[in-house]
Amino acid sequence: MKKKPLRAILIGFGNVGQKMAAMLSEEREKYPGLEGLDLEPVAIFTGRHGGWVEPDGIGLGEALKRFRENGSFPAAPMTALQALESLDYDVLVELSTLDIGRRGEPAISHVRAALQRGRHAVTANKGPAAFAYRELAGLAAVQGVRFLFESAVMDGTPIFCLGRALKGVRVTGFSGIFNTTTNFVLSRLEAGESMETAVQTAQQLGFAEADPGLDLDGWDAAAKTAILANFFLDAGIDPLRVERRGITGVTPRDVARARAAGKRIKLICRGWREGGGVRAEVRPTEVSLDHYFAAVNGRAAALRLECDMLGPLWVMEESPDLTDTASGVLQDLLVVAESR
Ligand SMILES: NC(=O)c1ccc[n+]([C@@H]2O[C@H](COP(=O)([O-])OP(=O)(O)OC[C@H]3O[C@@H](n4cnc5c(N)ncnc54)[C@H](OP(=O)(O)O)[C@@H]3O)[C@@H](O)[C@H]2O)c1
Repeated sequence: MKKKPLRAILIGFGNVGQKMAAMLSEEREKYPGLEGLDLEPVAIFTGRHGGWVEPDGIGLGEALKRFRENGSFPAAPMTALQALESLDYDVLVELSTLDIGRRGEPAISHVRAALQRGRHAVTANKGPAAFAYRELAGLAAVQGVRFLFESAVMDGTPIFCLGRALKGVRVTGFSGIFNTTTNFVLSRLEAGESMETAVQTAQQLGFAEADPGLDLDGWDAAAKTAILANFFLDAGIDPLRVERRGITGVTPRDVARARAAGKRIKLICRGWREGGGVRAEVRPTEVSLDHYFAAVNGRAAALRLECDMLGPLWVMEESPDLTDTASGVLQDLLVVAESR
């Protein structure tokens, strides 16, 4: 018997939301593994580009077509929160942007509203797991539903999935390189460019945002570090409690000096258990050229997990793009679909 579609409320229809919609509609035949996933939104919301509420279900291909043709949806008849509290749906797909200044809101309220109604929540937004992991994971457990965020760190690379597979293993610490913009800018400094030119190149190549401050000041890395510390070390922290130094103070001279000493500067994120608690930090660090981290260049990212019974384990992604990110959301949705 054919399963009923997974009815979803989508919040955020930007790069990731549209890519996910395309992979499930016009690009579907490229991905046979998605066969078991029949996602049917009952509402789609954006921040400033309207929304679409249709309790009988919205075709993802149709939503893409409408959005591309008009550049927006008409004004939505209700807010996202009202939809989460009143419509009939199975899963929230939260793909809005992280707002550090608002401590992860409104995404946290969206996820909380879904979980409180016993609905699953899947998000690529770092806010909920960075600022409210304990509360939301606890709520999901009480309600018997899933709170999943595979794409929030290292795009779709299955690191949280790996964590859940490590039965009986205690993770004692982690380190990694998670921010593409800073990693790219540091390699350009090494090639002799100024910080300004390196940032401009990153923007031209589509790595960096128009406002790259969140990356350069280490906030994006701190948000990812907080999520990993919360998930792997039960830290109960948020990005403001991660000791953070970005790369704005790093000069071409620092990079050249490190290079002359057989080292390379990388923005390293770390979390470790200490004195009954957990510490987490993000800071530019000199790594020796024969260390694995020195080879993490371009768009690559890497996670090193220290564990009590095995490892250290390494997970590396070589050159992720939007498809990887959307695939993480789709992997989470398949977990939800399989749990029904
Ligand atoms: N792009 C990647 O490769 C990548 C990788 C990993 C994780 N992520 C995360 O995935 C999420 C989506 O990324 P993206 O690249 O798709 O971002 P994006 O292109 O900027 O799209 C964000 C979407 O969220 C909507 N939005 C913003 N604030 C909202 C609010 N308060 N309520 C409802 N909708 C809101 C935006 O609507 P308006 O445009 O109308 O404001 C837009 O539709 C982000 O949290 C990002 O950090 C992205």
